[in-house]
Amino acid sequence: MAKIKPLTFDFDGALIPEHGITQSQLDQLKPNLESARDEVHADLELYGSGASVPADKDPLDAGFHEMPERILDEYQANREGSELGRILAAASRLRERVDKVVVLGIGGSYMGPRALMETCCQPYFNELTRAERGGRPRMYFEGNNVDNDWSQALLQFFRNHSNGDGPEGNWGIVVISKSGGTLETAAAFRQFLAELESKVGRENLADFVIPVTGETGKLASLADEIGCKDRFLVPDGVGGRFSVLSAVGLLPAAILGIDVVALLEGAAAINSRFRTQPLGENPVMDYVAVNHLLEKEQGVNTRVLSVWSKSLESAGFWYDQLLAESLGKAERGALPLTCVNSRDLHSRAQQHQQGARDKVMNNVVVDSWRQDHLAVGHSQWNQDQLNELADKTLPEIMTAAIAGTNLAYREDNRPTTDIHMPAADEASLGQFFQMLMLTTVLEGRLMGINPYGQPGVEKYKKNMNRLLREAVTS
Ligand code: PA5
Repeated sequence: MAKIKPLTFDFDGALIPEHGITQSQLDQLKPNLESARDEVHADLELYGSGASVPADKDPLDAGFHEMPERILDEYQANREGSELGRILAAASRLRERVDKVVVLGIGGSYMGPRALMETCCQPYFNELTRAERGGRPRMYFEGNNVDNDWSQALLQFFRNHSNGDGPEGNWGIVVISKSGGTLETAAAFRQFLAELESKVGRENLADFVIPVTGETGKLASLADEIGCKDRFLVPDGVGGRFSVLSAVGLLPAAILGIDVVALLEGAAAINSRFRTQPLGENPVMDYVAVNHLLEKEQGVNTRVLSVWSKSLESAGFWYDQLLAESLGKAERGALPLTCVNSRDLHSRAQQHQQGARDKVMNNVVVDSWRQDHLAVGHSQWNQDQLNELADKTLPEIMTAAIAGTNLAYREDNRPTTDIHMPAADEASLGQFFQMLMLTTVLEGRLMGINPYGQPGVEKYKKNMNRLLREAVTS
């Protein structure tokens, strides 16, 4: 395993007078937090044993927890025959055939793949030529809404911009739905499948469609009927919003040429730290301790994930779903809110600085940039008075913005924490995903809320289907 540069969590900015937390509160929480950690590991054993699950733990979707290690071990033991080997082979086949891929999925079947692309690929990836993209296809996301104009626009774009022989003239579909029956995704699949069939013909469809779904269900049946050669499972015991490190995220990532091994290794590194490191050095335990205490002691029930890189906006949205759907139950659960800075300093910061004291700012700081540092630059026109800052680079300005913002919050006793990601890359993102999935589960156990399942979401799905079908039959 390559050496992983560790993600770190610094919570000094939450240990503040009046509106923060104290070291002694952290010390008092320690036994409960350690029991909750034991419970998370006991859940894993119970899940692995296949024994029946007590009612208060049902559902118990702990399958995500050691999935990174399992996938890596299987890949080590049997490169081509393993799940990851098959994912990489299918990704490479699709890459050779097409220049555009639409990923259809919603919620947990959408946010993770999108976060992977936006964090790990170049910002204007889809605008580059095929050669500049290293032969990797452009990627688009649909089936995550029922927005007529966006669906029409993408269908028209594919119809009008897929010309020529070879991959440039072709596009493909990755359709992801664990249940296989979610209306938004199913409707989009039907529409994109019809468009694809009119292009490549019924007999070739199977080469251009890769489903990721459960063993059974409507999408699985449809995949059988189409004859899809490549298809992958959302494993049982892995909930949608915990599925980013299964084929759900790995397949789109592999199609984009993202280093999925480094991603999984990053996640495995967090598992090991969660299991062994003590409070104060354990990012999972520390994050839960600080955020949970702020909520309990200070009524801080809005968690701002303040990401200091545009590449992380979708990763923030992924976390919004994870926290909201997992702990937003029984009239409890903190409100997640992703901000991208410095952009949102010009929109939300006024409220964060002087509004209600119900927020913690959990910063996510990327410690290194991929590209050479860009200086402001000298100019013959100095009306903007920037020549004195001419040698300052954008990373230096960003660092000053982060420090200045944290200082302003500290001066007013507003709590902050800092998650430091070594880079916006696979190993860091793997750590980030696994850390936040574990914090969510750990906090659920600490609060006595089952983090798995989403009964509230199921209600809307049922109502929407009933209303639509009633309208058809009346
Ligand atoms: O976290 C979840 O389980 C949900 O957000 C689902 O991912 C979402 O509802 C989509 O479901 P499916 O993958 O079954 O289409």
